[in-house]
Amino acid sequence: MSENGFDPTIVAFVCNWCTYTAADLAGTARMVQSPNVRLVRMMCTGMVDPKYIIKSLLSGADGVLISGCHPGDCHYINGNYKARRRVKLLKEILGRFGIDERRVKLTWVGASEGNEFAETVNHLVEEIRELGPGEAAGMQVV
Ligand code: FES
Repeated sequence: MSENGFDPTIVAFVCNWCTYTAADLAGTARMVQSPNVRLVRMMCTGMVDPKYIIKSLLSGADGVLISGCHPGDCHYINGNYKARRRVKLLKEILGRFGIDERRVKLTWVGASEGNEFAETVNHLVEEIRELGPGEAAGMQVV
């Protein structure tokens, strides 16, 4: 719990081959990382449908992380490029619904970068903590 009493919840869609492995490495190496992140293991960031991101925000997540293989390293050739395009478009429309686009973040974290993963989640949790509770929780979708 922070000084302002707000403890954000982050949903992280992570690629099995890179970021999930990095998260596992960070855990086994006992790197200090925020407990606010709920990992969802995907085979590739290219499988992250924008609906999953929106559903997470509507269901109470204060932030969403999508993280996978570095450009050029995707095990399905171009899944991460697809994810990058989708996230860019999604971020452009979130503001129209009153949702701060900074709540959605896309990163590349390779399998050997456990330290990078821990730093990414810790930094994101602090960013979301500063933004405050998510605007989308409880919004009615017709
Ligand atoms: S397999 Fe990792 S992003 Fe595609």
